Amino acid sequence: MVKIAASILACDLARLADEVKRVEEHVDMIHFDVMDGHFVPNISFGLPVLKALRKETKLPISVHLMITNPEDYIDRFIEEGADMVAIHYESTFHLHRLVHRVKDLGARAFVAINPHTPINLLSEIITDVDGVLVMSVNPGFSGQRFIARSLEKIRNLRKMVKELGLETEIMVDGGVNEENASILVKNGATILVMGYGIFRNDNYVELIKSIKQEREE
Ligand code: DX5
Ligand code: ZN
Repeated sequence: MVKIAASILACDLARLADEVKRVEEHVDMIHFDVMDGHFVPNISFGLPVLKALRKETKLPISVHLMITNPEDYIDRFIEEGADMVAIHYESTFHLHRLVHRVKDLGARAFVAINPHTPINLLSEIITDVDGVLVMSVNPGFSGQRFIARSLEKIRNLRKMVKELGLETEIMVDGGVNEENASILVKNGATILVMGYGIFRNDNYVELIKSIKQEREE
């Protein structure tokens, strides 16, 4: 069954713990977007916030690093409670090393790709990662429109994963809503990240229930 990750960037951050408690029983994990103002044109939150949040929820936390020099911070994000770490393909010269560092420290390693990055660049790393995070908007902000081409990317990625006989997770991040969620699951998405779809949507409980009925085709 598809898993849902609540992206807290879209919540009322002044009430972070309450916001997470409000959605906790309906989602499978929390998605924690770290932005440094260099890799993306926005600054979000980082280590001290993760440390504080870790005490407030038992849900797994997936940390999405949108930062330059991710190698300088991986250990500390895992120390402060990250269960999964997504590193952008575009953010490092040494992805293989970083992926294995994440795994050695006991977390699950994801490689994240921007909308312009083709999946064939993943051929030499796909067997090393636990999942691929496909950005379906340009990273930096919640509440953006889903880039339609991402669907084909997900379909092709699923094909790649199946052909290799892997169980790699396919996480889709950006602009996921009631209009595209079902088609994403049908085409192979195994984790849907949702910011606005959960925190700015009064019907999110119903939406999540209906998404969970969908199956891969
Ligand atoms: C964008 C972030 C996403 C974002 C998703 O850079 O990586 O996780 O918060 O928010 P929505 O679902 O509102 O597009
Ligand atoms: Zn994200």
